[in-house]
Amino acid sequence: STILYNDQFMAREQGKVDMEDRGYQFGDGIYEALRVYNGEMFLLDLHMKRLNRSARELRLTLPYDTDHLVENLNKLIKDNEMNDGYVYFQITRGAIARKHRFPEKPISSVLTASVEATTQDEDLYPDGIKASLIDDIRWLRCDIKTLNLLGNVLANQEAFEKGSAEAILHRDGVVTEGSTCNVFIVKDGVLITHPANHFILNGITRLFVLQLAEQLGIPVEERTYTTDELLDADEAFITSTGVRVTPVVQIDEHPVGDGKPGAITSRLLDAFNHEIA
Ligand code: PDD
Repeated sequence: STILYNDQFMAREQGKVDMEDRGYQFGDGIYEALRVYNGEMFLLDLHMKRLNRSARELRLTLPYDTDHLVENLNKLIKDNEMNDGYVYFQITRGAIARKHRFPEKPISSVLTASVEATTQDEDLYPDGIKASLIDDIRWLRCDIKTLNLLGNVLANQEAFEKGSAEAILHRDGVVTEGSTCNVFIVKDGVLITHPANHFILNGITRLFVLQLAEQLGIPVEERTYTTDELLDADEAFITSTGVRVTPVVQIDEHPVGDGKPGAITSRLLDAFNHEIA
């Protein structure tokens, strides 16, 4: 397959990064993952807005403006003849002799991008998933989409070892988000999700689902909720670029609601699928 390395297109095997790249040494960089449906990047503007915000928060200078980057990503999709799949790209602060503080003189940041083809419905679990509650041990800037994902990786692995498809993270009993997704519950017809502050990544899918809920007239509360509220919810689901809206039907040994995907969850998933058809 063809990848993008800075401004150059090349075969995957040709893409090499410097061993002193700060992304490699410190996780000093940012990324985005987008879905391509029918050859087009989905919710592109929101992803680019978030990318620019992440860069600002880390004082990382992007190598190209958004228009140029989008042009290159579109070329990458075309070169790989991809109709449905993912685009992943990351930008690190660049390569220089290892020192924690920022380089004294500006160095060029390093951009890499690749695509992965999937079928439209490959990563979906319409019957719902089992999730495990795991301690959220991550840092306090989870709102930035950085390459530092160790807290997420460890939680995801722990959930996997417990036979679960996802980790639902909590800080002292307050549910934050999943290891790779945002988490919603439904109680008495109200959709509830953690507010977009520094404890969670403000998912693009989360934003889209909030918009769909408004269109469908489903009441929404962006507020914190506890693990007890999660276990007592009528419905629960997760959202991300990959899983769209996926029901959570079991949390550790507890069924959620009646243990089947909930009605509001299904309405939101149907509305979502309608938008990408
Ligand atoms: N993960 N929260 C976390 C911690 C995430 O890693 C993600 C996405 C989300 C959902 O964001 P979005 O709806 O914009 O995909 C929430 C991506 C898919 C990943 O790391 O591969």
